[in-house]
Amino acid sequence: MNVKENKKSIGQLFDRIAGHYDLLNHLLTLNIDKYWRKKTVKQINISANKNTAEEIKLLDVATGTCDLAIEIIKQHNDFNITGIDLSAKMLEIGKMKVQKHGLLNKITLMQQNVENLSFFDNEFAFVTCGFGVRNFNNLDKGLKEMYRVLQPQGQAVILEFAYPKNIFIRFFYNIYFTYILPFAGKIISKDNTAYKYLMKSVKDFPKGEDFLIHMKSCGFENLSYKNLTFGIATIYTGYKH
Ligand SMILES: C[S@@+](CC[C@H](N)C(=O)[O-])C[C@H]1O[C@@H](n2cnc3c(N)ncnc32)[C@H](O)[C@@H]1O
Repeated sequence: MNVKENKKSIGQLFDRIAGHYDLLNHLLTLNIDKYWRKKTVKQINISANKNTAEEIKLLDVATGTCDLAIEIIKQHNDFNITGIDLSAKMLEIGKMKVQKHGLLNKITLMQQNVENLSFFDNEFAFVTCGFGVRNFNNLDKGLKEMYRVLQPQGQAVILEFAYPKNIFIRFFYNIYFTYILPFAGKIISKDNTAYKYLMKSVKDFPKGEDFLIHMKSCGFENLSYKNLTFGIATIYTGYKH
């Protein structure tokens, strides 16, 4: 299955691995994913919110099993989060976690495609996305929708896998992502293709300045990025004019 074919059925792919997603995520990143999400939430620039409304509205796209949404509430208890995702099964697990944390009044979940959001223009002070943009069928369409629903001066914060520049780190990274991760993914999730897809989707995806070019062409301004853990992951931020 190639990356394009796989992208067509991305919701089904995540439906298949939803039950193992959290375990594999934490295991295979040695829990570093939790640190990455914490760092991502730290990039939310609260002073960018010019809206005087009491509750600050944030949209978390490709929210999956809600780890990023839950981390946001841990750091910003006054936020009101809407989480959207294509995969009903990922959302089901996310909802159980939200319930377990007693956050049903803070986080609302909806099954939606980021490329065609149901929200009005300028609805949210912030839009976030953790490890989601790489999976969009049409990256620019998704980014344009994220931009459309942001309020003027609103901020987008995006966390995504990248590819380390250092040759030494890259060597181990390639071995890990090409052999160890798909093997462990297959054993635990019993899914042959899902974790092979991960490596392909990371390699083929625009990173660093190249990703910012996409954000810029979709309207975002004041762009910046921050590499994490030898450049294995990157946080991108941008604002609506
Ligand atoms: C790797 S998971 C990330 C989940 C979560 N944000 C996290 O930090 O763990 C990627 C998620 O993106 C969702 N996704 C992919 N394409 C999407 C789209 N076009 N619209 C909405 N969700 C999408 C998948 O269903 C999946 O749940």
